[in-house]
Amino acid sequence: MAENKTELQPIPGLPHVKAPSAPQVKTRILTAESVAEIQKKMVQYPVRKSAVLPSLTVAYRQVGYLNAEIYAELSAITEIPAKQLAEAATFYTLFPKKPRGKYLIMVCDNISCALCGADNLLRYLEEKLGIKVGETTQDNLFTLQIAECLAGCSSAPMMQVNHDYHENLTRAKVDALIEGWRKDG
Ligand code: FES
Repeated sequence: MAENKTELQPIPGLPHVKAPSAPQVKTRILTAESVAEIQKKMVQYPVRKSAVLPSLTVAYRQVGYLNAEIYAELSAITEIPAKQLAEAATFYTLFPKKPRGKYLIMVCDNISCALCGADNLLRYLEEKLGIKVGETTQDNLFTLQIAECLAGCSSAPMMQVNHDYHENLTRAKVDALIEGWRKDG
């Protein structure tokens, strides 16, 4: 008999939990690939709720943010209440709740960076990009945010842009970075 790929294998010492079925759900936002990926993740956990963060992550990676409509689609796929998905997402600033720019600029303003000019850096970025903290440029390229300590204190002032760190920042370094990103579009 062919192996059922959606069935969890029993874990010695733990009660065997049947994997959730993979319902055919119609989604408007999430792609078929995302749906399949979430369903694949669901069978990796004996408890359905354990798939909350992996499911949110798949949606976030595809869409770039999370909102009520996405929670509803995730709920239809995972059978986890949309309210629980939304509640979990609120704990994580790395799950944006609205669209943001291609480049998410997060400037650390904790103590080491503050002492090394984080405030000046922020004001400079606001001026250069023409936006305030929390806003996105009209061309949807840049979103500016403040971050708590990013553990790059020895290279303050610093900022994280998407997944990369930029450290020992000066105005000249910021100018070069922004220019490069604008060129890349
Ligand atoms: S205080 Fe800025 S990275 Fe730690």
